[in-house]
Amino acid sequence: MDLKSKIEDLLNEVAELKASNDKELEALRIKYLSKKGVVSELMNEFRTVAPEAKKEIGIRINKLKTEALEKINGLREQLLASAVTESAENLDLTRTAYPVPLGTRHPISLVKNEIIDIFSRLGFCLADGPEIEDDWHVFSSMNFPADHPARDMQDTFFIEAHPDIILRTHTSSVQSRVMEKQQPPIRVICPGRVYRNETISARAHCFFHQVEGLYVDEKVSFADLKQVLLLFAQEMFGKDTKIRLRPSYFPFTEPSAEMDISCNICGGKGCSFCKHTGWVEILGCGMVDPAVLDACGIDSSKYMGYAFGLGVERITNLKYQIKDLRMFSENDKRFLEEFTAAN
Ligand code: DAH
Repeated sequence: MDLKSKIEDLLNEVAELKASNDKELEALRIKYLSKKGVVSELMNEFRTVAPEAKKEIGIRINKLKTEALEKINGLREQLLASAVTESAENLDLTRTAYPVPLGTRHPISLVKNEIIDIFSRLGFCLADGPEIEDDWHVFSSMNFPADHPARDMQDTFFIEAHPDIILRTHTSSVQSRVMEKQQPPIRVICPGRVYRNETISARAHCFFHQVEGLYVDEKVSFADLKQVLLLFAQEMFGKDTKIRLRPSYFPFTEPSAEMDISCNICGGKGCSFCKHTGWVEILGCGMVDPAVLDACGIDSSKYMGYAFGLGVERITNLKYQIKDLRMFSENDKRFLEEFTAAN
């Protein structure tokens, strides 16, 4: 067979090439296009072609080379495309999704939500106020007279350029925010972050969290307050929890008290957490001082109320037996991940 018809046959052969997988495709590439392949062999034969036929044969060999290349590339694309459709056909849309790794709620948020939940069930609504506050809402309206030593009980962060603007030292500031907008009956809790200029240690921090409670109506008694706090303690720490009220002093309540609960770490027997007393303080409370009601625009001859402020960190420490306050703000994932199950 002369060279020309041999090339013609090869052109027809190439047009019909098929490959059903990568291996077959590679075999075709080797057969036609590799160094010892069909096209290279033709190039060798080309040297023996008579000069007058060289032009035509040359063109035919080049055509064969381009067509073989295009055909093999086309087959490669087909294989790729069918692999994609095949994997789409194997998609099982009923399969459950891969689990998305969820973060965990911060223990302070967990406990805060639990506190909100308990008081919501008792009919308390949520109220909110700013963390950057003015002196009036944090101190003056709460019956802290100017220059009164009681202000020193709370080491305040001042905004230097505006001595009247401070970081709130307690959520009691939200009491006055609520009362100046709303007349009794008032029954609110105000969760939030507070700031004090304290040296950071295992037992103190420059910011922490409180939940304030305020109840103002025509007839409110200390017995109401005690009952609500007892119920809260037992919901939070279990039915066997006992409470103890000790007389105390706060400018905004009269009488004032601090409440301890029986230490739930040692069950009241005494341990290092409760300093071997069997009791742990968790909140301050009292009957709202009439001067506070008047300062906030509520008629103290008609209304009375009780208030309390509890420390969220203290309650979280007790609930999860955490001995170092700094754990809450260090963002150590090993610590935070321990609360996965509690979410
Ligand atoms: N504001 C007080 C504090 O930060 C806590 C407190 C005590 C709040 C008695 C009250 C209260 O509402 O009645 O130490």
